[in-house]
Amino acid sequence: MKLNKQLDQIRESSTVAMADRVLALKASGRKIIPLHVGDPDFETPHAIVDAAMDALTNGDTHYASSRGDRELKLVAAEKHLREVGISYDPESEIQITHGGIHAYYLALQSILNPGDEVLIPDPSWATHSNMATLLRGVVRRVPAPAENGFIPPISSWEAALTPKTRALIVNYPSNPTGVYPSKEYLEKLQTFAIQNNLWVVSDEVYQNLYYEEKPISLGAFPEAKERTILLNSFSKSYAMTGWRVGYLLAPKGVIKRAIKASQNSITCVAPFIQKAAAFALKDAGVQKEADAMRAAYARRRALVLRVADEYPKSRLKLTPPQGAFYFFLDFRFLGRSSLEICEEILDATGVALIPGSAFGKEGEGFARMTIAASDADVEAGIRAIFEWVGER
Ligand SMILES: Cc1ncc(COP(=O)(O)O)c(C=O)c1O
Repeated sequence: MKLNKQLDQIRESSTVAMADRVLALKASGRKIIPLHVGDPDFETPHAIVDAAMDALTNGDTHYASSRGDRELKLVAAEKHLREVGISYDPESEIQITHGGIHAYYLALQSILNPGDEVLIPDPSWATHSNMATLLRGVVRRVPAPAENGFIPPISSWEAALTPKTRALIVNYPSNPTGVYPSKEYLEKLQTFAIQNNLWVVSDEVYQNLYYEEKPISLGAFPEAKERTILLNSFSKSYAMTGWRVGYLLAPKGVIKRAIKASQNSITCVAPFIQKAAAFALKDAGVQKEADAMRAAYARRRALVLRVADEYPKSRLKLTPPQGAFYFFLDFRFLGRSSLEICEEILDATGVALIPGSAFGKEGEGFARMTIAASDADVEAGIRAIFEWVGER
């Protein structure tokens, strides 16, 4: 029997492969320090859980509109106006989605035709390329080497351009590197998009997780609003990864198509989840809890750097992330593949990491370590890694 060929072009997720390996090791009684998955170790704030329970009790248990809950779209628009300064019409320019990944799917489904080319920095979250391939787009990676702070020089975007290029896809703060560029750079990127008539798809799921100056949204440039598509999610900022809710901010024509794609794939996001998400955006107590989570990530980031200070002679040198919740550890001095390094670290120390090569060629030699884990695990994990390096 014939099967879909498009899926054969996609490698299995290394994150999932590592998670499977970790489960197998745990089942054999091994103690594992889980620094591989990008899932906050915090519980979802209880007030959000209560809001979902209330909605369930009040009968929000049937089909909802494919367009998304009106109130949720309204508060999402208000948040965006407050934080980024650009207004979006909740009825025609916002779509509620099944998490950030579905927002990304809807964005690409709404703009790509088979054979259209998309430009994606290397390294970047694997789904960015995989989804484009699934939807029969052609992916061109734009090198974002460590030597350039993991940001592609504008000349590299220009070099990757062809007459078939339709979109550029970026994610700042970045998974896996934690970097985000200056306003001047983003301005240049938008100018490049305008000059070449490209869509700009900006994955901003880590926008509220930062440790330095507040990152600028690619949606902050009014002259580019008609070509900019922003995606956001509750997963990371509110520790709501399992709730599967996010949203898309985009021009009317995109949202019209996104609604059709949603209607014919998921029907709607569960209404009680949408009610709880609206509550999360409105409630001052929830905002305080979200701020406390961000403060905890900042504390763990400092903790990692303090441990690193204890190993001044180590060949492992750390670059602290500006945002998101990952360190991208540079093991290139070992001259071996990221996969081998991660497997060896897991076997020798029990610390689970994700090979940098999972994010692209420019990630080879690196490994991603999350700080969305307990302080104790983060401290024990980074210490074990330094001890392991010390012997090499
Ligand atoms: C860059 C990036 N975008 C999107 C997502 C997906 O988030 P969600 O749980 O909202 O689907 C992730 C999750 O790891 C991510 O790292």
